Amino acid sequence: MTTQDLHVNALRNQDADVADWLQREDQRQTTTLTLIASENHCSAAVRETGSSRLTDKYAEGYPSRRYYGGCEVADEIEELARARAKELFGAEAANVQPHSGTTANLSALMALAGPQGRIVGMSLKDGGHLSHGHPKSHTGMLFDPAQYGVNDDGLIDMDHVRKICKEHQPHVLIAGGSAYAREIDYQAFAEIAREVGAYLLADIAHPAGMIAGKVLPSPVGVADVVTMTTHKTLRGPRGGMILASAEIAKKINSSVFPGSQGGPIMQQVAGKAVAFGEALQPSFREYQLQVQANAAHLAAHLQSAGLKIVSGGTDNHIVLVDLQGTDVTGADVEERALAAGLAVNKNAVPNDPRPPMVTSGLRLGTPAVTTRGFGKAEIEIVADVVIGLVRGEDPARYRAIVQDLCAAHPLP
Ligand SMILES: Cc1ncc(COP(=O)(O)O)c(C=O)c1O
Repeated sequence: MTTQDLHVNALRNQDADVADWLQREDQRQTTTLTLIASENHCSAAVRETGSSRLTDKYAEGYPSRRYYGGCEVADEIEELARARAKELFGAEAANVQPHSGTTANLSALMALAGPQGRIVGMSLKDGGHLSHGHPKSHTGMLFDPAQYGVNDDGLIDMDHVRKICKEHQPHVLIAGGSAYAREIDYQAFAEIAREVGAYLLADIAHPAGMIAGKVLPSPVGVADVVTMTTHKTLRGPRGGMILASAEIAKKINSSVFPGSQGGPIMQQVAGKAVAFGEALQPSFREYQLQVQANAAHLAAHLQSAGLKIVSGGTDNHIVLVDLQGTDVTGADVEERALAAGLAVNKNAVPNDPRPPMVTSGLRLGTPAVTTRGFGKAEIEIVADVVIGLVRGEDPARYRAIVQDLCAAHPLP
């Protein structure tokens, strides 16, 4: 019997409802193809850290400077996670404590801009993230934000970025997004940041794994601070991380703790250490190359059937389908896809006339299916299913095809 079985049995004996729901979620993931660009399936080794006794441990502070006793093991784990993160990204300093990407951004922005500081980021409707200054996010309330967008080709308009920065004079310029499928020119962003005397923050939450695998250019050493999540293409546990130069690291550390968090979630930190160890293996680069090839193939196949792809293609793991001009919405296709066994998400496209819960777009991503071992042949089948669903075919038609793919490609 494995440790995992023991845990599951303990839960079942004590709380059958929650045990049932966990089993249902396991079953849902097993029998669903995840095409949500921000999700992945981490390894069994990473998952195991999540149910370890580290769950019980308080470790406020940083290694060797804790506010609690009994942190010897926590210290070693956090040191290892930091060392592996630095090696993986070639960074001078790493903070592995942020509970999430949003906390990482909030901490970094508070460290660099200060309360009421001016920030410039990409707007949510053009592919940016809420935590880049959206009015409903605390980053839009605690700071003074201005936002840039994409041009008619769906590409970041660097002239617009420069114009907004000249007008707004930000303390921090943010490069990065949640629904942007193209390579980001960090050098061009750094130039603009220098021109206006701003710090450059690169948020690589989405492409972190591809950057670690050296499939996409890295902002480390170009941007002043790099924030990310650890659970998307990086394929680790749910969480955040901040990379910085040695000079800025002290400010960042005190902005994470005690600035915006209490104790780190040590079982997550252990999971990050394991995931970074996996990402340092040569096979991780192979995986990232396949993620990228699969996304390019998916985009090309959808395009050949007449679907419109924002920016005309992809450089990373994201394919943003523009449904304007068809008679379906993003919400329609999300619902149909689920009935067929595909998890996708509706997403606003640039100049989207529809509200956020409806949208005219569909964001697809290849990290999770590539983890299941998908290559070109499987991606073509998935693309055909998406095309059929957009055209209004009955989702039930595709359920068996999707189930066969799931059965042939088990979860890690
Ligand atoms: C670019 C970007 N930054 C930050 C985040 C926030 O991450 P979290 O959901 O862990 O707060 C996301 C999440 O999707 C993201 O895409």
